Amino acid sequence: MKLKQAYIKGIGMYVPKKVLTNHDLEKMVDTSDEWITTRTGIKERHIAAKNETSSTMGAEAAKEAIKNAGLKPKDIDLIITNTITPDMPFPNTSALIANILGIKKAGVFDIEAACSGFIYGLSIAKQYIRTGEYKNILVISSEVLSRVTDWEDRNTCVLFGDAAAAAVVSESSGKSEIISIYLGGDGAYGDLLYLPGGGSLHPATEATVKNRMHYMKMKGNETFKVAVTKMSESALTILEKANIKKSDVDLLIPHQANMRIIKMVQKTLELSDDKVYINLQKYGNTSAATIPVALYEAVQEGRLKRGDNLILVAFGGGFTWASAAIRW
Ligand code: ACO
Repeated sequence: MKLKQAYIKGIGMYVPKKVLTNHDLEKMVDTSDEWITTRTGIKERHIAAKNETSSTMGAEAAKEAIKNAGLKPKDIDLIITNTITPDMPFPNTSALIANILGIKKAGVFDIEAACSGFIYGLSIAKQYIRTGEYKNILVISSEVLSRVTDWEDRNTCVLFGDAAAAAVVSESSGKSEIISIYLGGDGAYGDLLYLPGGGSLHPATEATVKNRMHYMKMKGNETFKVAVTKMSESALTILEKANIKKSDVDLLIPHQANMRIIKMVQKTLELSDDKVYINLQKYGNTSAATIPVALYEAVQEGRLKRGDNLILVAFGGGFTWASAAIRW
């Protein structure tokens, strides 16, 4: 069987209107714009309205991606949504999004790889396109982290935001291609970044609510050290796998969690500032959505053109990590 090439045909994004600035946070917890800016690079983040969820935001991003790809909802064969904040344990968020978009015949499932989710999703879509099993696949990342953020915990509440983005992955007949993807993970780090309550281990009870177990917990400093090591390793691994030299990288889009982590990965790849896309200051860490949101904005701003060598690198809860080499 001759394998086909997969590429990203269209992209879309959605962020809620409400903006929460560092100065707003100063009124909520013991923090300062100065601390948040120097330690993380974040200035503001978007927060979903009461009636917005992962499915409604994901559907908005998906609509734009389908349109941008020159397709109709009926052309979609499979929907893969990456989220750690699904509307509910089931039905899965992809099914809810399919219903909003009026898609009746697509396969629907979710994956959960935290901040690495978009690249994990791309890796699955790529295989289905390569074998010719499907023609057009929606890979959606949608996160409403504000609902699982402990707004009394200054260690975490300054870091996260809400956003969604989507990509249509299709068969390519030209130069554009998802060249190679690398995935990694190590569950031994599970207790550095996690959400303990609400699953089969600690189902919701009065005690789990009282003990604030339905919020994200993170040992920031220990997470930081592993993030720097694994993102740098992943970036080098994908260059080797795809046979791309550091000097041939046109744009790096790293997971947007912390400016200092991004700068260390940039140093590892010896890239100048114009070859690294950063929008962390506007959105904070939106988990699986950071990379596709950045990808969307990089294209809009003309920072990425068809034929460019694009590198994606992610790291998140699990821990999971992942990288991708794409000829855009
Ligand atoms: N405002 C003011 N002070 C604060 C705040 C705050 N918002 N938060 C923490 N501090 C204090 C701490 O209490 C500590 O004070 P102490 O020294 O008196 O104990 C001090 O600042 C330093 O705290 P550290 O945690 O050591 O600060 P650090 O420089 O490591 O920065 C941060 C913290 C920003 C969280 C960083 O560690 C980080 O970015 N970690 C990685 C995040 C990441 O990559 N996550 C993975 C992806 S997320 C996902 O998958 C959903």
